[in-house]
Formats: sequence, structure tokens, C-alpha cells
Amino acid sequence: MKRAVTPGTFDPITFGHLDVITRAAQLMDEVIVAVAASAGKNPLFTLEERAELAREATAHLSNVRVEPFSGLLVDFARANEAQVLVKGLRAITDFEYEFQQAALNYELAHELETVFIMSPPQYMYLSSSIVRELSSFGSPVDQFVPPHVAEALARKFAK
Ligand code: PNS
Repeated sequence: MKRAVTPGTFDPITFGHLDVITRAAQLMDEVIVAVAASAGKNPLFTLEERAELAREATAHLSNVRVEPFSGLLVDFARANEAQVLVKGLRAITDFEYEFQQAALNYELAHELETVFIMSPPQYMYLSSSIVRELSSFGSPVDQFVPPHVAEALARKFAK
């Protein structure tokens, strides 16, 4: 039984995240989408909102479940008996950060393997922060996020 964790802040979940999660779900028996509290990043959506948006976006994937977490990722992975961390890799700019995270997580938990899935070209530039910025200016984001996420963003910025 290969269980993977795909961690992130998911503020909010995008088609880029969904591409990685879907491909991970094809490789692994089970995938846990781990939604990090990431309080230091001052997220737009609450942890529960981010988890709920991710849950709805992945509801069609039978071997995927969504769990919020706070604390260390390696502790979450161990508590859930996962053997693999799956991360998406976009442009070169991601590499330095992901390299550091993978090295640190390996130091903390040798038994946990980090695996990278390369983003396809259409999602190379896509990030939650770009989607939040576009939406904050009233620009449509339908090509970047599922409809329920676009609606949640519109509601957030209408306030
Ligand atoms: O989507 P993000 O914000 O790039 O995801 C970053 C995330 C949540 C994967 C990372 O910050 C993380 O693992 N946070 C949990 C706390 C932790 O374990 N920190 C040490 C990682 S080296």
C-alpha cells in the first residue's frame, strides 16, 4: 500500500495543484492532500475554507482525501503512515526552495521519499498568489481554478 501526501497551503487550490494531485493519484494507492495552516503566510482563506475548497475539487478522485494540518509535515506524514511526499515543480525558480525543503524533510525523516511531478507548460506560471491577485482586481479566473473556487474568491473580494 503506497500512501502519498501532497502538501501545500492551497490558498486556494488551482488547476496546477489538481494536475499534480490527479497524477499522484494515478501513481499511488492513496493520496492525502495535506492543507497546511501556514499561519505565517497570512492566508486569504481560513484553514477550514481551504480544506473544503480542496475537498470539493478532488471529490471525483476516489483514492484522494483532504486533511488540514498544523505542525511539521514529516510528523503529519508519519502519523498517517505515508511513505512518499509528492510536490509539484514549476519553473526553475521553484527549484531552490523545493530542494531545501526536500533536503530538510529527508534530514528529519529518512524513510520519507520526496517525489517531484513537473508541471505541464500551461501551468508553469500558475500560482495561488497570481490567482488571488487577479481576483482581487476583479479579473476572471475561470481558466485557472474550478468554478466553486472562482465563486469563493469573488465572494471573498466582494466583502
Ligand atoms: O503551497 P506552499 O505554501 O508552497 O506549501 C509549503 C508547505 C506547506 C508544503 C511547507 O511550508 C510545509 O511543509 N509546511 C509545514 C511545516 C514544516 O514541515 N516545515 C518544514 C518544511 S522543510
